Amino acid sequence: MSETLSTSVLLADAAEQRAWRAKLRGAGPVHRITTQSGETGWLIVGHEEARNALVDLRLQGRTATVGHGRRMPEDLERALNSHMLNVGPPDHTRLRRLVSAAFTRRRIEQMRPRIQELTDELLDGLAGADEADLVAGLALPLPMRVLVDLFGIPAEDCADFNVWTKVLTSAGAVDLDRLTTAAGEMVAYLRGLLDRKRQVPESDLLSALVAVRDGADRLSDDELTSMVYLLLTAGYETTVNLIGNGLLNLLANPEQLVAFKADPDLLPQVVEEAMRFDSPVQIAVRHSTEPVEIAGQAIPSGALILVSLLWANRDPDRFTEPEVFRVDRQDNPQLGFGYGFHHCIGAPLARMEGTVAIGTVIRRFPALRLAHPASSLTWRASMVMHGLTALPVHLR
Ligand code: HEM
Repeated sequence: MSETLSTSVLLADAAEQRAWRAKLRGAGPVHRITTQSGETGWLIVGHEEARNALVDLRLQGRTATVGHGRRMPEDLERALNSHMLNVGPPDHTRLRRLVSAAFTRRRIEQMRPRIQELTDELLDGLAGADEADLVAGLALPLPMRVLVDLFGIPAEDCADFNVWTKVLTSAGAVDLDRLTTAAGEMVAYLRGLLDRKRQVPESDLLSALVAVRDGADRLSDDELTSMVYLLLTAGYETTVNLIGNGLLNLLANPEQLVAFKADPDLLPQVVEEAMRFDSPVQIAVRHSTEPVEIAGQAIPSGALILVSLLWANRDPDRFTEPEVFRVDRQDNPQLGFGYGFHHCIGAPLARMEGTVAIGTVIRRFPALRLAHPASSLTWRASMVMHGLTALPVHLR
């Protein structure tokens, strides 16, 4: 094991993180790390060790909606955080089974024409200009519009819903009072909406979640609101990052863009490579529930464990030329959607959004290129999320 790292390493830009990876090569797959609040933890960077950690039942996820170290009132916490990412089997198995009965592949496949339509609409809005920001103009609005449609949120409520979501997905950056107000309003709204879906079911996901039954078992009110909150937080910014990072990597590697244009069937591989190379979620957070040993490191009970999906996805022991973005990569067991029992339930939807958005932009704007060098672009300052704040391009 090497020196103790700081989590600021995870906030560094791509070039600096790459320099850290080179420096730590040979120092093993697990490093000690200190968070900005002074908590000590362990950072897992090896592909094999990351995979093992993600299926280790002694390591569990735990999210709390906090603002500057303080927590929300308990009833709101329960209404937001009684979801499957926070629990392991058998509670997780029960919740995932119930939710999977509503969030089916068929339901997701039915979204495809709508995703194409939304993408075309957003690109129509950009098409008149010479320059555009593909984050603000496409990557950011598309996933939210898809979620609103999937949930069956009435059009007139979208503005409020967008405001709450923005506040709640910036947890850590806004103060607790603002978080609590937004959470309280959203939970009250969702309870009303879920009630209406119960009385007059429609064809959307929320109506299906309300109706789902497994024998006598069903989702409780807190589990329902928490599930919607999880889908929102897990399905929004993540997909924004996939679209933005994927487009960036194609434009920053012109020879790869040429290869892709010559063989558009590579599109699914382009999306998998974007998931690997600039993983939209860079860290999966776990806590040990008992003492464990990982790659020879003794880790006590209650320790913070950060599984770096991004670094695991650049592990030279698992990937050939890991620091190179290749549209024709064949062997790509990327961990960007996690692994094991918490593996992303929305992965088929995210892949669909990624392929439609990236494929359509590249087809529609043949002269598309970066407006500024990739090295000058700004990444969001987040330890968990990995995405651009803006992607300015020349469209013609
Ligand atoms: C779980 C990534 C899109 C819903 C996860 C996990 C990752 C992830 C890494 C595992 C977290 C962990 O083990 O701690 C992503 C990425 C996405 C994406 C990179 C976009 C590119 C979505 C979408 C939805 C979604 C669109 C739904 C609308 C979920 C849910 C879980 C999850 C519900 C929890 C599953 C469980 O606990 O069993 N996602 N996700 N995700 N994701 Fe996604």
